[in-house]
Amino acid sequence: MNSQTIIINLFEANDSTELEKADQELLSSAVQATLGAYTPYSHFKVGAAVRMSNGIIVTGNNQENAAYPSGLCAERTALFYAHSQYPHLAVEAMAIAAQSGGAQTADPVYPCGACRQVMLESQKRAGKPVRVIMGGAQKIQVVENVGDLLPLGFEEF
Ligand code: THU
Repeated sequence: MNSQTIIINLFEANDSTELEKADQELLSSAVQATLGAYTPYSHFKVGAAVRMSNGIIVTGNNQENAAYPSGLCAERTALFYAHSQYPHLAVEAMAIAAQSGGAQTADPVYPCGACRQVMLESQKRAGKPVRVIMGGAQKIQVVENVGDLLPLGFEEF
């Protein structure tokens, strides 16, 4: 057996002024979207913002439910809504932010595994790399391709 090494590319910024203007707006939309999260169980509010190929921004947040598995993460709420409203537009970029105890988290929050798989499919539908901006108040991390968040993701052939 031989071994392989997979390298992922992760970019880091201290604040959003290091991002291009459209991405600054996308990230602040994600921060704003945390306010609408419904989180009576975890009290952890996540916001996601998706920019479509025509520049429009669609947001979503986590929606919890007493029957726990029935809730949905912010990323999938935003992506499924975006695709349902704009089935013929490509996703261009996505930003994710979270707040806990009333303040934005200092560090970025990373999407869960199930969301990564859904994000990978959005990228496949787009036919080109989708940038993902994960924003904390003190650190912002960016990948230029969802594949960097989910190497060896599932794809049907
Ligand atoms: N959550 C998200 O919205 N996105 C993620 O990528 C990870 C977790 C939500 C689910 C649940 O409502 C809360 O955060 C705590 O796990």
